[in-house]
Amino acid sequence: MPETPYVIDEMISAKSIAARVEALAREITAHFHDTDKLVVVGLLRGSFIFIADLVRELDLHVEVDFLEASSYGSGMESTREVRILKDLSGAVGGHDVLVVEDIVDTGFTLHHVINLLRSRGPRRLESCALLDKPSRREVDIRATWTGFEIPDEFVVGYGIDYAQYNRNLPHIGKVRFTDP
Ligand code: IMP
Ligand code: MG
Repeated sequence: MPETPYVIDEMISAKSIAARVEALAREITAHFHDTDKLVVVGLLRGSFIFIADLVRELDLHVEVDFLEASSYGSGMESTREVRILKDLSGAVGGHDVLVVEDIVDTGFTLHHVINLLRSRGPRRLESCALLDKPSRREVDIRATWTGFEIPDEFVVGYGIDYAQYNRNLPHIGKVRFTDP
């Protein structure tokens, strides 16, 4: 448990997330309507709930794979160095690929992952992020589809953690530190 006490203020309700995920899935389905197979690549661990909800709304033949990249350590500080902790199980060369990310913050993670996957020669490569904090961007990158743009707040829930806590919240909330 993080040592500084904090509370979580709801920012995006579970209902709003569900509605937005449905709309994103419609756009993604339309974009890839002619695909033989879409490889949906979830970035662990923050995207696991988002990808679970998203793929169930996609009206496509979908393959699910996961990749783990690290940019944050155990706390709230971002690092520029992106390391691949777990690579994909399958190949993406020649296939249609959708990278699914929880949050685009500085942009280093998505930038690195997109470059890595592009080097493997996918047919089409697009990305979808649930959340985007454009004011924090340090690398010029945008996901093809974004769920919600949010201000520079540290958020948790719906798969997203603070030092591995709060991933299981059904909504997105912002962390507010309280005086001890
Ligand atoms: P980036 O490389 O700076 O864009 O960082 C992206 C990653 O940092 C996301 O996939 C998250 O895992 C993590 N991250 C960024 N902002 C937050 C936040 O507000 N709460 C929790 N994790 C975050
Ligand atoms: Mg992440």
